[in-house]
Amino acid sequence: MQRPIILTGRKVSLGVLLREDIPKVWLWYNDRDVRRYLSSPDAVFYFEDEMEWYERIRREKEKHRVFAVIENRSDSLVGLIGVHKINHKNGHAEIGYFLSKQYWGKRYATEAVGLALEYCFKWLNLRKVYARVYEYNVASQRVLEKNGFKLVGRLKKHVHIPEEGFADVLFYELFKDEWESF
Ligand SMILES: CC(C)(COP(=O)(O)OP(=O)(O)OC[C@H]1O[C@@H](n2cnc3c(N)ncnc32)[C@H](O)[C@@H]1OP(=O)(O)O)[C@@H](O)C(=O)NCCC(=O)NCCS
Repeated sequence: MQRPIILTGRKVSLGVLLREDIPKVWLWYNDRDVRRYLSSPDAVFYFEDEMEWYERIRREKEKHRVFAVIENRSDSLVGLIGVHKINHKNGHAEIGYFLSKQYWGKRYATEAVGLALEYCFKWLNLRKVYARVYEYNVASQRVLEKNGFKLVGRLKKHVHIPEEGFADVLFYELFKDEWESF
């Protein structure tokens, strides 16, 4: 099936997530190195859980937009980026993302977040985007900072990260006017 592309960048693009992507997503969601810094690091997903998740985000498009991150060079799926808790009344949403390990370190996440911000600010007309990151997840903090996000708060020693201990949860946010002038 040909995948509709929503926004195109230099190295990666954001496309519509397809049902046939789910077997890969399921493997990556269960990879402990990917999982460690996502919500519920201990979670174990059955394939059916993943299909239910796909159906849920498909049904709840007003609340979530989850995009396939596609490597332009190979046209391969490399990860996901989601705009969650879309709140039109207050004009904000939360972003979250992950890439399969083999694609880390190529600046793909930085570009994918840039594209997701373009979607949030230009297409959803939001005022603000925010993100939560665990203190040990330095790569993700860099990704946000390289897109203009500011650290605005933290919950101290709030979450247990396997093999690393209790971690602060850091809150980052970016307003549309800050993004436009970044
Ligand atoms: C976080 C994640 C998305 C980053 O993806 P990525 O494509 O490798 O990120 P990028 O290459 O765009 O940028 C990473 C930046 O962090 C830096 N970095 C990576 N590891 C680092 C470390 N341990 N210490 C300091 N900086 C680090 C890189 O050098 C790069 O910065 P630079 O461009 O200034 O050199 C990826 O590691 C991932 O999927 N992790 C698991 C899931 C996850 O943590 N999701 C985010 C939850 S908030």
